[in-house]
Formats: sequence, C-alpha cells, structure tokens
Amino acid sequence: MNYNYFVIAKIVHILAVVLWIGGVGFVTTVLIPSLRKTQEPEDRLRLFGALEAKFSFQAKLTTLLAGASGAYMLQVMDAWSRYTMPQYWWLHLMTFIWIIFTLVLFVLEPLFLHNWFHTQATKNNERAFLALQVMHVVLFSLSLFAIIGGMAGSHGFIF
Ligand code: HEM
Repeated sequence: MNYNYFVIAKIVHILAVVLWIGGVGFVTTVLIPSLRKTQEPEDRLRLFGALEAKFSFQAKLTTLLAGASGAYMLQVMDAWSRYTMPQYWWLHLMTFIWIIFTLVLFVLEPLFLHNWFHTQATKNNERAFLALQVMHVVLFSLSLFAIIGGMAGSHGFIF
C-alpha cells in the first residue's frame, strides 16, 4: 500500500469534517439563535429554509466524503475489528454521528421531516425553533466529542 494514499484519505476526511461540522456549528451557535432573537416568527421559517437549503448540498457532499474516506482508512489499516473494541469508542461515536446525519439528510428530510417541521413551525413557532435548537446543540456537542476522541485516540492517547 502506498502510505501517501492513506494520508490523502485522512486529509479528505478532515477537510470534509471541517466543512460539515463547521457548518453545523454555525447553524447551531449563530444562525438559529439569531433567527430566534431578531426575526418575527413568520419570517423565521422563510429565512431558515433559504439559508439551510444553501448548506444542504455542502452537508450531503461532505457527509459522503467523510464516510468514504473513513471506510477507506479502516480498510487500509485492516482495522474493522476496532468496532469490537470499547477503547475505540470514538470510532463508534464518529460512525453513530455519520449514520444520524446520513439518515436525516438523505432519508428523513426529503421524506417527511421538512414538511413536518414546516407544520410544527406554523402551529407553534417558538416551540418548533426551540426544539430545532436543542436538537442541533445535541448533535453539534456529540460531534465535538467525536473530534476530541478521534484526535486524541488516533494519536496514541490512552483513554
Ligand atoms: C462512518 C463514519 C466515519 C468513519 C468510518 C471514520 C473513520 C476514521 C478513521 C479510520 C480514522 C483514522 C484513525 C487512525 O488514524 O487511527 C478517523 C480519524 C478521524 N475522524 Fe473519522 N470516521 C467517520 C466519521 C467521522 C466524523 C463524523 C467525524 C467528526 C465529527 C470524524 C472525525 C475524525 C477526526 C477528528 C479524526 C482524527 C484525525 C487525526 O487527527 O489523525 N470522523 N476517522
């Protein structure tokens, strides 16, 4: 195996994670809180839809790249057995986050989540946007834990 390919996969992995989780961070810590503070309820949904739609393609592409590069690294290192070892909890967490985002972006949102959120926000805007913020805070925090665990774990930190 040419070691350069492994390093290239790692670069792709981290670039994808930066663009993807960085975007989730912006939506979580800047976009949703400022929409909740500054916008009239009837404008929130329209603005949120327009801004998130822009991010949706980037999120889908970077999710695919992060998953593919991660799987490639496991294959090259012959390290699939890490899934059976509890000390690699950070790999489980990365994979868990990837599955949640893949499900939301590719399955749940196009199928029903988009319309469901629209209905909820029309019925009770404050509550819908609070729930949206809580969900984003949870996913963003888990992602930060995965990044901390992944960085530390793959550089020899013993948990
Ligand atoms: C199916 C999804 C994923 C798989 C299979 C996967 C797999 C991997 C593998 C095999 C490594 C290299 C470990 C090593 O060098 O020993 C790695 C590193 C890393 N991954 Fe993932 N990953 C996935 C998703 C994610 C996600 C969602 C995040 C962020 C939330 C993430 C963040 C990182 C970080 C920060 C590193 C450390 C890079 C370094 O410092 O060397 N990964 N991942």
